[in-house]
Amino acid sequence: MILGGTGKVEVGKIMRKTMVRPFVFINAAMSADGKISTVERRQTRISGERDFDRVDSLRAECDAIMVGIGTILADNPSLTVKSEKRREERRKARKEENPLRIVVDNKARTPVDSEILNKGEGKRIIAVSKQAIVEDVERLGEKAEILICGKEEVNLRNLLYLLWQRGVSRLMVEGGATLNWSLISQGLVDEIYTYVGNMIIGGENAPTLVDGRGFVVEDAMVKLELLSAEKMDEGILLRWHVSK
Ligand SMILES: NC(=O)c1ccc[n+]([C@@H]2O[C@H](COP(=O)([O-])OP(=O)(O)OC[C@H]3O[C@@H](n4cnc5c(N)ncnc54)[C@H](OP(=O)(O)O)[C@@H]3O)[C@@H](O)[C@H]2O)c1
Repeated sequence: MILGGTGKVEVGKIMRKTMVRPFVFINAAMSADGKISTVERRQTRISGERDFDRVDSLRAECDAIMVGIGTILADNPSLTVKSEKRREERRKARKEENPLRIVVDNKARTPVDSEILNKGEGKRIIAVSKQAIVEDVERLGEKAEILICGKEEVNLRNLLYLLWQRGVSRLMVEGGATLNWSLISQGLVDEIYTYVGNMIIGGENAPTLVDGRGFVVEDAMVKLELLSAEKMDEGILLRWHVSK
């Protein structure tokens, strides 16, 4: 059942037999030791110019980009398409300059002055759970569409279904470690691009590509098929298919 409102949508149980969702891929840059930022969760330059351009092209080609609130608070990214030529191509194709940007944000903690809510044209969605306080939701509702989706945390399955209903067929996930775990462990990811940079960051509490609880039983571990490996800048770009 989907309950509609003005600017807010609440999702209860979505009754369906087969999961309908967009094609979902994760893109991330990590150090040679698998860290995606420092122990202080400070953003670090891991890749180079060619890789930045590749990421920009991936952004321009997708319908929507998703990140977790941890990434917004740590990095304050705008997630806009940087190349003027690519923005122009999107306009010619009757799309907005930037893909739909989505924050997975349980408690509506996205700052109203964050780059994602203020930089570049295009729609934004903040997906919150019932944990969010009404005042915070209303405050963010002035800048973005709010989807109330889940009790304790954002129900990603339902969120992906709602995005698919809104015409999102290709979704790019740009982190971070906790959101990556939730999506991968629930079988909601189709491909993963990992750029592996020529550095060691270290630190047992520094975020890795996938954090969360982790798998304990070998059978539960997610298996990948390597689609390509390409030397790029001073590192290597790996493209993985997630086996079902
Ligand atoms: N190198 C790269 O490519 C790259 C890319 C992106 C981010 N990063 C780094 O990754 C770090 C941030 O990662 P993070 O793990 O701290 O945060 P995150 O994955 O960006 O966000 C996780 C948060 O999202 C909220 N959430 C709500 N529903 C969720 C659900 N179903 N599953 C998962 N999360 C849900 C939770 O917020 P509540 O706590 O409010 O419940 C959770 O703590 C930063 O250090 C950033 O620099 C690196």
